[in-house]
Amino acid sequence: MRIRILGSAAGGGAPQWNCACVTCEEARRTGRQRLQDTVAVSGDGVAWYLLNAAPDIRTQLLGTPELAPGPGLRETPLRGVVLTTAELDHTLGLLSLREATGLAVYATATVTGALSSCFPVLPVLGSYTTVEWAELAPNQRLAGGLDVARLTVGAKRPRYARDAGGDDWVSALRITDARTGFAFVYATCLPTWTEEFDAFVKGADEVLLDGTFGTDDELTRATGRPGSARAMGHLPIADSQAHLSRHPGTRFRYGHLNNTNPAGGSHVVWDGLSLGDS
Ligand code: MLT
Ligand code: MN
Ligand code: ZN
Repeated sequence: MRIRILGSAAGGGAPQWNCACVTCEEARRTGRQRLQDTVAVSGDGVAWYLLNAAPDIRTQLLGTPELAPGPGLRETPLRGVVLTTAELDHTLGLLSLREATGLAVYATATVTGALSSCFPVLPVLGSYTTVEWAELAPNQRLAGGLDVARLTVGAKRPRYARDAGGDDWVSALRITDARTGFAFVYATCLPTWTEEFDAFVKGADEVLLDGTFGTDDELTRATGRPGSARAMGHLPIADSQAHLSRHPGTRFRYGHLNNTNPAGGSHVVWDGLSLGDS
C-alpha cells in the first residue's frame, strides 16, 4: 500500500489566514505550512483514492506526482473520494474536483444526507460532473486491491447541520492491502478511545490518529476562546498516548493538527510524507 499525506492540519490550516497566534506566526516565519487534512492511498500504485477532500485540494493534487493526469487527455489515477466526516475542511475540496469526467464519492448515508440538503455540495457538483455516490458500507473493496472497513467513532455534527438526523457522522477507516496484508487505520477525528476502536486498530501496521489538540485546554490557552478539545470531538494527544503501549507492533502518528498545536517530532506527520509498505 502507498499512503501520501497531502495535508496534515485541521480546519483553517497552519498558518490560518487570520491568526497571529504563536504557532501560526512561527509557520509564517519558517515557511513550514500545513495544508488541511487529506490523505491519498493506493493498493497497486495505479488506482488512487483520497481520504477526504480539503479546500486545499488543487494545490495538494498538483504537488503529488502520483496523482498527475495522463497518458489520456483527461485520464487520472484518482478513482474516488472517501469521506469520513461532513465537515467543511473535509468536503469543500469536492467542489474543486468538478472538472472530473466523473467522480465516485463514498460516504455514510448520514454524511450524504447532510451534503445533499444542509450543505448541498452533491447536487451542486452533480451539475458539473457525473457524481457516483456510494454508501460507505462497513466493509468494501476498492480498485487496486484495497479492502476498507468503516467504524462509526462519533456523532458530532458540523455546525451547519446542527439539527440534522442520522448517527454515522464521524468514521474511522481501516484500509487493508489485499495483496500484502498491510493495514492502515485513518482516524483523524476521534472523540474517545473506545473498546471498539481499540479492537479496530489491533494488529494494524500504521495508524493516523487525531492530533488536533495536544491537551484538552489548548485552544483556550492559546487563543482565549472557549471550548475543550473533547467537547469539540477531538481526543487530545495527551490522552490518546496512554493507549498506544497496548499495541507495540503498530506505528501511531498524528495528523489533522490545529494551528494552535505546536507538536513536532516523528510522531506527527507533515505534508508530503509517504507511508506504507511499497
Ligand atoms: C473539526 O474537525 O472539528 C471541524 O473540522 C471543525 C471545523 O469546522 O473547522
Ligand atoms: Mn476538521
Ligand atoms: Zn494560529
